[in-house]
Amino acid sequence: MKTYLVTGAAGFIGANYLKYMLAKYDDVRIVVLDALTYAGNLGTIASDIDEERCFFVKGDICDRDLADRLFGEYKFDYIVNFAAESHVDRSIENPQLFLMTNILGTQNLLDAARRAWVTGRDEHGYPVWRKGVRFHQVSTDEVYGSLGAEGFFTEETPLCPHSPYSASKTSADMFVMAYHDTYKMPVTITRCSNNYGPYHFPEKLIPLIIKNILEGKKLPVYGDGSNVRDWLYVEDHCKAIDMVVRKGVEGEVYNVGGHNEETNLEIVKLTIATVHRLMTEKPEYREVLKKKEKNANGEISIDWINNDLITFVKDRLGHDQRYAIDPTKITEALGWYPETKFEVGIVKTIEWYLTHQDWVQEVTSGDYQGYYDRMYGKG
Ligand code: NAD
Ligand code: DAU
Repeated sequence: MKTYLVTGAAGFIGANYLKYMLAKYDDVRIVVLDALTYAGNLGTIASDIDEERCFFVKGDICDRDLADRLFGEYKFDYIVNFAAESHVDRSIENPQLFLMTNILGTQNLLDAARRAWVTGRDEHGYPVWRKGVRFHQVSTDEVYGSLGAEGFFTEETPLCPHSPYSASKTSADMFVMAYHDTYKMPVTITRCSNNYGPYHFPEKLIPLIIKNILEGKKLPVYGDGSNVRDWLYVEDHCKAIDMVVRKGVEGEVYNVGGHNEETNLEIVKLTIATVHRLMTEKPEYREVLKKKEKNANGEISIDWINNDLITFVKDRLGHDQRYAIDPTKITEALGWYPETKFEVGIVKTIEWYLTHQDWVQEVTSGDYQGYYDRMYGKG
């Protein structure tokens, strides 16, 4: 039985990872630590918390006493650190919060792990670590900065972050590596490209576009829509993290990406077309639409679900042009590959949103509208 501390598992990727791990293994015990910020939703993982294999603790990764208490109580073998402020646009509004959570929070967990996992000193004064432990940092391709039309990010690409978000994630990565280099702490890092899938908070591009279509709202595309992202289905990311935590080499970084580059404009058009197609094939999905105008046949009309919904809005400050991951290392070293093709993943994702409108209502019931109005204007 291995015991994991999984931080940030009430958020998008962490929740998917929690569900993936509980479904895959009988012999894991997982303690979730999550502050339940606007991005965290206990309802997402409520059915997973059984107080036997899965426990929930509400708290901040910056809280030293809490981290020490949890290490003492649960004797963790692994830490998988998802907890973060994750939205680039919000980092432009409030950089300091990103520094606090993403840098100080990570460093606090590193120190708590060091206090709990070091069993002595070797003859050179280096800490001796409990056998089999691992600190895994969930990082991002944004630490590498931005690409032009050619090339890919490899693990050797120099770190060159631009946004406050990516600067904070880069700094956290550097602390993780500093603890490895200085104290020989057993660490690994994964740097993944853009994820999409169930439980994605609708401030990020794909879920925001789906939500807006269903509400009959305009679809905001930053700048001219030519920025490129490399989309990966979230479950493939979860599988990669699991492989790296269990089989990855200590002190190594692994890039994770699906070779699925697309411009934002194409992603938005594809999402529009897929919603339209699904509502044509299964007219019952139209009940989810806010706008229920009837056509000549007496059905809810979907004629208006087309590219005219797109509106080009003010560009993101310092907007990175292109991200693209070269995943050769994780594929060759661990046998990882992306299983879900984008055409399949996007249908699964849209159908999930069509059938989980209660979840969307729940996560957007707080400050979401205030944030939306600030970002995109009222409406
Ligand atoms: P998210 O915003 O959906 O979830 C973040 C979670 O962390 C939330 O549950 C939130 O409540 C929790 N949290 C925030 N501050 C906390 C704190 N101080 N203490 C404890 N919990 C706190 O984020 P996500 O998209 O699921 O991303 C998870 C991780 O993966 C992040 O580290 C992010 O940098 C990284 N990542 C994300 C993507 C992506 O496409 N979303 C891609 C690569 C890497
Ligand atoms: O690459 C990995 C990163 O992907 C993660 O580290 C981040 O946590 C995650 O949020 C994501 O960052 P992006 O900034 O790439 O994701 P976002 O969904 O915010 O935006 C995707 C692209 O779409 C980006 O070029 C900006 C654009 N965009 C976004 C929104 C919200 C729009 O054009 N319109 C929008 O309304």
